[in-house]
Amino acid sequence: MKSTCAYAHTNIALIKYWGKLPGHLNLPATGSLSLTLENFGTQTALSFIDAPQDVFVLNNQQQIGEPLLRVQLFLDIVRALSKNDQHCLVDSRNDVPTRSGLASSASGFAALSLAANQLFSLNLNPIDLSQLARVGSGSAARSIFGEFVYMHPGSPVDKTGGYAEPLTTDPSLDVRLIVVQCASTPKKISSRAGMMHTSATSPYYSSWIATHAQDLEEATRAAMQGDFKTLGELTEHSTLKMHASMLAAKPAFWYFEPLTITVMNRVKALRDDGAHCYFTMDAGPHVKVLCQAQQAQAITNELRKIEGIVQIDIAKPGPGAKLI
Ligand code: PMV
Repeated sequence: MKSTCAYAHTNIALIKYWGKLPGHLNLPATGSLSLTLENFGTQTALSFIDAPQDVFVLNNQQQIGEPLLRVQLFLDIVRALSKNDQHCLVDSRNDVPTRSGLASSASGFAALSLAANQLFSLNLNPIDLSQLARVGSGSAARSIFGEFVYMHPGSPVDKTGGYAEPLTTDPSLDVRLIVVQCASTPKKISSRAGMMHTSATSPYYSSWIATHAQDLEEATRAAMQGDFKTLGELTEHSTLKMHASMLAAKPAFWYFEPLTITVMNRVKALRDDGAHCYFTMDAGPHVKVLCQAQQAQAITNELRKIEGIVQIDIAKPGPGAKLI
């Protein structure tokens, strides 16, 4: 039985992607800027099987329904590209809670893309691999690469773009992301469903789109120049705008839990006391706090005092996806 295995680290966007272009290519309506994290990721073993359909096992549990369908649709694309119609066993293990807003789909589809590239002999270069990963999950395109990653928006005109590339930043940034887990239950609304509902019903969605490119450009420049304060301020601005667009949807929805707000308040209070820290939240209740290495432990010690936190970790920037 021919098989291959890949590991991809998860990533968290500082400048968010939220919204898709029409069509089946899963092209993002906005670009994004992210940080790949050392601590968390997905290992995926992929092998050919003699079976009537693909089998997807996640954390030792055979998957059915939506999770299985997403993997099967992804593998259909790989089969079409390679002109090899064999079915596969996808055996994945997540080092992050699944469907919790900690970007397990990013590391999951990045690992699967790399494994599929090898197993089906696709010979894709890293940019093409990033585009393949994007078809599985928008944020997965970024997990192909390590550290800071810049992702291009899709083009509504010719359907190009929608791929990521590594961004060389000023080493003086020396960032850390403190991952504060605020709940242990899976999220109720997938990011895919959340962004479709926002774009269809929120009057703030058009403002989100109209103002996004400038945030991305300024944050990218700040990262390249080592301007941590501007990067941090734009990180908070981007996440709050994204969540505001959901609050204005009809009906409104949100991923925040009471603890999410408590952590946000504490980050702001720490900043008022002179700490350099900025929050960001995704499609889940957890808070990730951007800071620099020399303050990471002190800020974590303060946040740890908040009652009810499930887990708190300091994450370093991590490497790109690799075969193992
Ligand atoms: O990769 P998706 O399609 O699950 O979307 C991710 C969306 C956010 O995590 C909320 C933002 C981002 O850019 O990662």
